[in-house]
Amino acid sequence: MKLYGIGVGPGDPQLLTIRGKRVLEQVDTVFIPGDLAQTIISGYVSASNIVEIQFPMTTDKDKLQKAWQTAADHVVEKTDDKAAFVTIGDPSIYSTFGHLRRALRNNHSTIDIEVIPGVSAATAFASAFDVDVVSGTNLMLAEAPNGTAPTGPDQMVLLKITDVPTTHSKLTEAGYDVWYGRRLFMEDESTVITQNPDDLEDRDYFTLGYARHQDIRFPSIGGGENNGT
Ligand SMILES: C[S@@+](CC[C@H](N)C(=O)[O-])C[C@H]1O[C@@H](n2cnc3c(N)ncnc32)[C@H](O)[C@@H]1O
Repeated sequence: MKLYGIGVGPGDPQLLTIRGKRVLEQVDTVFIPGDLAQTIISGYVSASNIVEIQFPMTTDKDKLQKAWQTAADHVVEKTDDKAAFVTIGDPSIYSTFGHLRRALRNNHSTIDIEVIPGVSAATAFASAFDVDVVSGTNLMLAEAPNGTAPTGPDQMVLLKITDVPTTHSKLTEAGYDVWYGRRLFMEDESTVITQNPDDLEDRDYFTLGYARHQDIRFPSIGGGENNGT
């Protein structure tokens, strides 16, 4: 049995890779963890080949561990030859697929697993915000749930922002300019890109931020430094 972990990109079906699409068309079963992934692949996979896998909305580690193991058993049970598990963005970046892969390796170690990368929100943000991450500067990927705000690096991409106003006030106090993106590259015109936290007071799972410290020094082409202006 072979299982592909396929990243389907941030939302627009056209950002699914050609390789991901080809594999989706070849496998017998496609396991999906949520509605968005289903919408993205719906043009490429027949509905009868799709099996939804539910994961509990909890932070209880024991419950989650059990759910991943149950999901792994379910995947093995329902697969004859080749199957795929799809995730939004990339399967190796803060993804459910990582948990499933660990559970499969624990109890079903003979399964052949191949990962097909996808366009991650962690990099796609730059195109959406028209930002250049230039050579000579550093960019850190981090999480900022529940009003938290990591600080320190020159630039950060922050995923899982659930309380934009609280995270924003902590970041600005620490000297960062911050841009937020909600539902980037999704087709339903729901995309919001803003620097105003009041635009994003409600909670939406698909929200990220790009924070840039005001003191960042950009290397200039002539070899000196400037502040990017
Ligand atoms: C569990 S992580 C999954 C990341 C995904 N595997 C990837 O590579 O993009 C979910 C977080 O990614 C971010 N995210 C994913 N897709 C997004 C999108 N289209 N627009 C904005 N944020 C997105 C949000 O911060 C969300 O809370």
